[in-house]
Amino acid sequence: MIALDEPTLDRARDVFRHTAADVQWYKVGYQAYFSYGEQILTELREARRSVFLDLKLHDIPNTVAAAIRTVARSGAALISVHAGGGRAMLTAAAAVRDELRRTGRAPKIVAVTMLTSLVQTDLQEIGIDHTPHQLVSMRSALAQACGLDGVVCAVDDVPIVRLRTEAPFMVVCPGIRASGELAADQKRTATPSEAVLAGADFIVVGRPITKAPDPRLAVRAIMAQIEQANAEKPASMGTV
Ligand code: C5P
Repeated sequence: MIALDEPTLDRARDVFRHTAADVQWYKVGYQAYFSYGEQILTELREARRSVFLDLKLHDIPNTVAAAIRTVARSGAALISVHAGGGRAMLTAAAAVRDELRRTGRAPKIVAVTMLTSLVQTDLQEIGIDHTPHQLVSMRSALAQACGLDGVVCAVDDVPIVRLRTEAPFMVVCPGIRASGELAADQKRTATPSEAVLAGADFIVVGRPITKAPDPRLAVRAIMAQIEQANAEKPASMGTV
């Protein structure tokens, strides 16, 4: 999935134009959604691309349910909520998905377990006395118990998520960097190959593609890494 974190609609269109031949999924996050959301969602729908609407919804259950009902009209295939919202909020998110399913096409809902920009000292500072692995483990088990379709987590967390949940459970990994590349604000990063070998279903890549001198080449290099890693891993793991 390519993260369309661009300041203007024209820049987002440029990223799309340079990558659409090779890419099916696009992620629309805060920047795109708040500044040109309607427009980009319409264009992606018309181009028959799949959209991950990454709003990391985190509020009281009723508010989150209403938000999902509203944004699902965009036709997004995947919507994120924040696992920090707790059991009642996650259950409400799953319930509204089920309600939408009865009336037609419903998005899948994934829970963000922990931002990939955070490390243990950040958790302590916000009052969470757990390691990242413990937190992701608890939150992914909770997300599945509440009926959600999957989680967003760092590549490093994928084996723990797989251990604590039962298939099918979608695992989406941001924080992807080619080895040696600038991590910027991301702290828990991994390469596309590592993501595949860890068992991720999807990787989310933003700046390594959108800021590349040639985004098309950057996509193709990542695709090649994915294919090679898929060929290397045991067949029982499925493919990304
Ligand atoms: O540019 P970069 O590849 O770091 O973009 C990663 C994208 O994934 C951003 O849009 C960010 O909001 C999102 N994300 C993340 N960590 C999470 C969940 C989402 O980086 N845990």
